[in-house]
Amino acid sequence: MKKIIIGAYIVLMAGVACTPKASPSAVAASAVPEASAVSSDEAAISAGQVIFTTKCTKCHAAKTEAVTSKSYDELRPVLTSMVKKAKLNNEEIQQVSAYVYANSKK
Ligand code: HEC
Repeated sequence: MKKIIIGAYIVLMAGVACTPKASPSAVAASAVPEASAVSSDEAAISAGQVIFTTKCTKCHAAKTEAVTSKSYDELRPVLTSMVKKAKLNNEEIQQVSAYVYANSKK
């Protein structure tokens, strides 16, 4: 009887230890969206402009020229690394992406 209880305890603890800490979908949600998923909401675009001219200018001037001269698909990889550098949260990432998309070369 004692062995069964210990066995059940070990199985239970192994199950707890194997439970993933963060769900993969939570990580994907904070990524820079694909062009088709970018918000075209005016409020998001103007909030994005504020981020672009404040949080994105800690290391360099606002990269307006780089944004307007490239397509969103060209900018997406650099934007992916920049949002990490600027430590933006998910909402800010969606907003700055909306601003960059709205101003990128079409
Ligand atoms: C921690 C510093 C840092 C922050 C914060 C940062 N960047 Fe950058 N960024 C760099 C560096 C370094 C480079 C490469 C050198 C350069 O072009 O100035 C760069 C380059 C870029 C480029 C490429 C420029 C080109 O000519 O192709 C773009 C676009 C850009 N950043 C946009 C952003 C945006 C948008 C944000 C805010 C989400 C941001 N950056 C925040 C450091 C930073």
